[in-house]
Amino acid sequence: MRTVDIIHKKRNGEALSREEIDFLIAGYVQGDIPDYQVSAWAMAVYFQGMSARETADLTMAMTRSGDQVDLSGIPGLKVDKHSTGGVGDTTTLIVAPLVAAAGVPVAKMSGRGLGHTGGTVDKLEAIPGFAVERTKEQFLQQVRDIGLAVVGQSGNMTPADKKLYGLRDVTATVDSVPLIASSIMSKKIASGADRIVLDVKTGRGAFMKTLDDSIVLAQAMVDIGTEIGRDTLAVITNMDEPLGPSIGNALEVLEAIETLRGEGPAELTELCLVLAAHMIVLGGQASSFAEAKDTVERLLHSGAALEKLRQFIAVQGGDAAVVDEPQRLPQAAYRVAVPAPQDGYVARIDAESLGVTAMMLGAGRATKEDRIDLAVGIKLFKRVGDRVKAGEPIAELYMNRSEPEETRRMSERTVSAFAFSEAPVDRLKLIYAVVT
Ligand code: URA
Ligand code: CA
Repeated sequence: MRTVDIIHKKRNGEALSREEIDFLIAGYVQGDIPDYQVSAWAMAVYFQGMSARETADLTMAMTRSGDQVDLSGIPGLKVDKHSTGGVGDTTTLIVAPLVAAAGVPVAKMSGRGLGHTGGTVDKLEAIPGFAVERTKEQFLQQVRDIGLAVVGQSGNMTPADKKLYGLRDVTATVDSVPLIASSIMSKKIASGADRIVLDVKTGRGAFMKTLDDSIVLAQAMVDIGTEIGRDTLAVITNMDEPLGPSIGNALEVLEAIETLRGEGPAELTELCLVLAAHMIVLGGQASSFAEAKDTVERLLHSGAALEKLRQFIAVQGGDAAVVDEPQRLPQAAYRVAVPAPQDGYVARIDAESLGVTAMMLGAGRATKEDRIDLAVGIKLFKRVGDRVKAGEPIAELYMNRSEPEETRRMSERTVSAFAFSEAPVDRLKLIYAVVT
């Protein structure tokens, strides 16, 4: 087989065979096929697309390129959840205990934050003592014991995706549906998921800016799941404003605790209940979405999910008392109110821009090596559609540095993430569609 023939075939819009896709991916990872040929192939895929079968073959070739987690020793269907990237998106910390409390085992590998998006592993590290590194045996034993473990990614998972993603980033081939879909799904499958629930974000703060494009991406991922026998469902949700009001690691842990107490923000609570209910149906612990939704609402209000969070924190070495005494979480030294510049209605809140501001405050990393400050971040007081009066606080900055110049710049950045309108503005819809 020759790489040039594979590129030629895809350039002309023909479907590649499984053998051709395996040859290309294996050769690329081994270093036998150079970047320039894979770049040309990626561009051909960008213009010609891939069939559902080709996309599934590409996914499995990438899954097999490195280590795979074997969860078969844990009884029951293992259901994973993935969000395509959000700001103020603390759903995993809420959904995982809810689903585990319903009897569906959660064995999750999560990442750290990079750029404007946060990562679950960083948020968990805001809990004093919490260890995100476990041996494989500890990880599996913990899931058997309490039904829930969340650890950092370890080992050599999906090296093909890492290498290909780096190449796509510099060859203008990131925003190709088959390439995004296979990238995301290969990582979920390598981490052992039998069933997958996807939260596909749409809007200004998301990869896919329009609802139509988001549905196409969601359908591509659901089709991969169907092709390979791992049932996948996607919920398309809004990213035209941050999901929850807190952006920052300790702030988001606090928000997760409040939500599991039944005192969380309405939109975040609703999305977590919906995602958890879908996971429980896919995990075989409910026969309908309505039944599963009742179950998760009960587990939320009875405190059972909060108890699961306590247990989970304690088993991973963390201070479970944070659940009842959140002041034990890292606290910022300064809080700075950000006033509304005018009267009116909130018309838009740029989630990505606020994610960058939180990163600049120290809550996130510009590069992989940066150290982060777990206490700092932004708390929003308004959502799209809310009425504001000039001078009223719309947000609060949590800071550990107090230079006036930085404070002024960060306040200005925060204000400019908001757009205001004199006329009333409709609230945004949270969930647009479910793709199965
Ligand atoms: N997230 C991924 O993991 N891969 C992509 O290609 C895009 C978003
Ligand atoms: Ca299906």
